[in-house]
Amino acid sequence: MFPLASLISLCFLAVAFGQQVGTLTAETHPMLPSQKCTGSGSCTTVQTSVVLDGNWRWLHSINGTTNCYTGNTWDATLCPDAATCTANCALDGADYSGTYGITTSGNALTLKFVTGSNVGSRVYLLANQTNYQMFQLLNQEFSFDVDMTNLGCGLNGALYLSEMPADGGMSSTNKAGAKYGTGYCDSQCPHDLKFIGGLANNVGWNGSASDPNSGTGNFGTCCNEMDIWEANKNAAAYTPHVCSSNGKCSGTQCGDDDDRYNGLCDKDGCDFNSFRMGDQTFLGPGKTVDTSSKFTVVTQFITNNNSSSGTLTEIRRIYVQNGKVIQNSASQVSGVTGNSITDDFCNAQKTAFGDTNSFETRGGLAGMGAALGRGMVLALSIWDDHEAGMYWLDSTYPTDASASAPGVSRGPCSTTSGDPKTVESSEGSNSVTFSNIKFGDIGSTFSSTGSTSPSGPSSSSSSSPPGNTGGACAAQYAQCGGQGFSGATCCSSPFSCKVSNPYYSQCL
Ligand SMILES: *[C@@H]1O[C@H](CO)[C@@H](O)[C@H](O)[C@H]1NC(C)=O
Ligand SMILES: *[C@@H]1O[C@H](CO)[C@@H](O)[C@H](O)[C@H]1NC(C)=O
Ligand SMILES: *[C@@H]1O[C@H](CO)[C@@H](O)[C@H](O)[C@H]1NC(C)=O
Ligand SMILES: *[C@@H]1O[C@H](CO)[C@@H](O)[C@H](O)[C@H]1NC(C)=O
Ligand SMILES: *[C@@H]1O[C@H](CO)[C@@H](O)[C@H](O)[C@H]1NC(C)=O
Repeated sequence: MFPLASLISLCFLAVAFGQQVGTLTAETHPMLPSQKCTGSGSCTTVQTSVVLDGNWRWLHSINGTTNCYTGNTWDATLCPDAATCTANCALDGADYSGTYGITTSGNALTLKFVTGSNVGSRVYLLANQTNYQMFQLLNQEFSFDVDMTNLGCGLNGALYLSEMPADGGMSSTNKAGAKYGTGYCDSQCPHDLKFIGGLANNVGWNGSASDPNSGTGNFGTCCNEMDIWEANKNAAAYTPHVCSSNGKCSGTQCGDDDDRYNGLCDKDGCDFNSFRMGDQTFLGPGKTVDTSSKFTVVTQFITNNNSSSGTLTEIRRIYVQNGKVIQNSASQVSGVTGNSITDDFCNAQKTAFGDTNSFETRGGLAGMGAALGRGMVLALSIWDDHEAGMYWLDSTYPTDASASAPGVSRGPCSTTSGDPKTVESSEGSNSVTFSNIKFGDIGSTFSSTGSTSPSGPSSSSSSSPPGNTGGACAAQYAQCGGQGFSGATCCSSPFSCKVSNPYYSQCL
């Protein structure tokens, strides 16, 4: 499998102590250019690329080809303890398309749901060979196109931000760094990482009962996470998750099992899933946002004073499909109003659904905003769920609760569809494509191009004053203005037309 020449060259490797780098496969990052946009509507290309997370890579003896980790077991000779294991084992380069089903073309990234000895994948956006692209999105927006036509129940094509170190945590014991996709953390404080903080996590490692490729070590790694997009063609959610502090965790801090609400992070998050918020006709095949073709997802991080130095107060969502701007669906849940995430929305939603409010107790939107101000790394992944079958995203969850109870119904998938055995055997050729990643000033990353009028009868600029409900004024949350908009520009009582950006005004 490996050419003899490269095996021979291993004899000349310098010895260093730390999480090592192997040289059996050259590490070549697939290019994925993105765009940075400004208020004047001009965008410049950033030469970003993607890097595979270290956890998916072949980990072998630094001087040979002996696996340090096979299936879900560490080699006892190479890894008798964490420090020795860290010094003995090297992460190698990846065959992105051949082994992992990861390909790029122009500004598009396709992640195929590979199965077998690797399941799914996770990549990060790189600025260069040594650093991740850092996203500081206060008073900014982020947009991308997604194609989920081939992404079914039980799968999650995710695009999100984690507060990882820019260089992947390079140190005297981590020689690999961002170039090899190290330093992952998220708000679930995952225990399944083979290295945390530059040290092997092999101590206390138990193989997973349901996943032959995965296991858990004594330590977890916690950090703030902004899930911009977790979805398959049946359901989608965007969810901030905050942590009271970031870092390597053990014991209660990790918030495992019965300690779920006692750890550093808010594992539930404050989610906006249109289906869960009562609009079951909004997103899906043939619905308002039609997942049977590609569309644009825009997320705006609004601050209290329209400045990047302000406090995060709202996270808005807008869709664009076939040139038409589609505002996010409004909540139809009793006691919960709005079509965006604010602290008021989160408090009302937790109350309405009877959920524990660990989002607000860990810092709420201000906490999420602080992380967005410091800078976060963009992760893109495709995965199935060995813990909860992705039922929290696309089905009835808890699966034994009544689907008519508040907050339980999240999507149309059945309560058996997400079983990883089923998903891995029947959806092994599924994939997700993310493309056209743009970030910059509010309103700068998208425009409406086609005919945009909603199916209202009036297209003249109405002279009816706000408060006149007899005419064809727009309803609460509907569009009432913006470039390219030709619908009613008045709002039904008691709402008034507020400018969100040059392309969109809304009745609020
Ligand atoms: C790897 O090879 C170097 C040079 O031959 C040697 O000094 C070192 O002890 C070897 N390390 C292991 C873990 O075998
Ligand atoms: C890599 O990118 C980071 C962040 O943009 C920058 O600070 C650093 O100087 C770059 N390094 C190289 C070698 O270009
Ligand atoms: C591994 O399993 C043992 C025995 O059940 C348990 O005591 C230990 O906590 C487990 N370790 C981890 C990291 O889950
Ligand atoms: C922020 O900008 C929006 C849209 O331009 C405007 O409606 C709003 O009043 C501004 N807020 C503040 C606090 O300046
Ligand atoms: C925005 O508000 C924050 C406090 O929330 C303040 O520290 C900052 O200076 C303000 N920025 C501007 C440009 O007014």
